[in-house]
Amino acid sequence: MMGAALASGIPSSRRKTARMFFALWPDAAARKRLYHVARQFRAHCGGMPIPADQSHLTLAFLGEVAMERFGALDMLARSVNAQGFTLLLNRCGGWRHQRLVWAAPAEVPAPLGALALTLQQRLVDSGFHVDGRPFLPHVTLLRRADGEPEEDRIDPIYWKAVAFVLVRSQRNHRGAAYEIVGRYALS
Ligand code: 2AM
Repeated sequence: MMGAALASGIPSSRRKTARMFFALWPDAAARKRLYHVARQFRAHCGGMPIPADQSHLTLAFLGEVAMERFGALDMLARSVNAQGFTLLLNRCGGWRHQRLVWAAPAEVPAPLGALALTLQQRLVDSGFHVDGRPFLPHVTLLRRADGEPEEDRIDPIYWKAVAFVLVRSQRNHRGAAYEIVGRYALS
């Protein structure tokens, strides 16, 4: 079955470009747990916890995309035929240089790697610019952190990935605001 668009809309703005990315969006229970862990880490690492309604795992980052290409992006996402899977986050760590603290799967489920790869390939084939760095799946917990977690494991947080989303990011004084502009079912 083709990945069906469950909901989508044109990003609401008069701007000619929008900062876009594809992501997995945790369910409400996982978002609550992620926020809880982020606040616990803040005691040791400092920084700003990502609000529960902004938690996500980036699959492919596009950067600025011309608004007129949004339709092509939506079509491309609809054509992706990928399996659903359970994502289990049980590892944590920090990237000192980016001042991030994150949660991640200790083992990347094959369908997650396949989904990210398919998206990247389709994007490149359609002439979109994608970040060429290796895919390092993670959910950012803290930004502007001063340290890294002392441990490298967390009590597992999981959710069933039944769809992926297209997200528009708008920078603001708090960091960024995210708007889901397309949602695509996994089979
Ligand atoms: P981060 O949380 O590790 O910063 C919106 O900015 C999302 O896209 C964030 O999840 C961010 O990851 C990710 N992102 C930002 N710039 C990126 C880049 N150049 N390559 C890959 N992902 C990026």
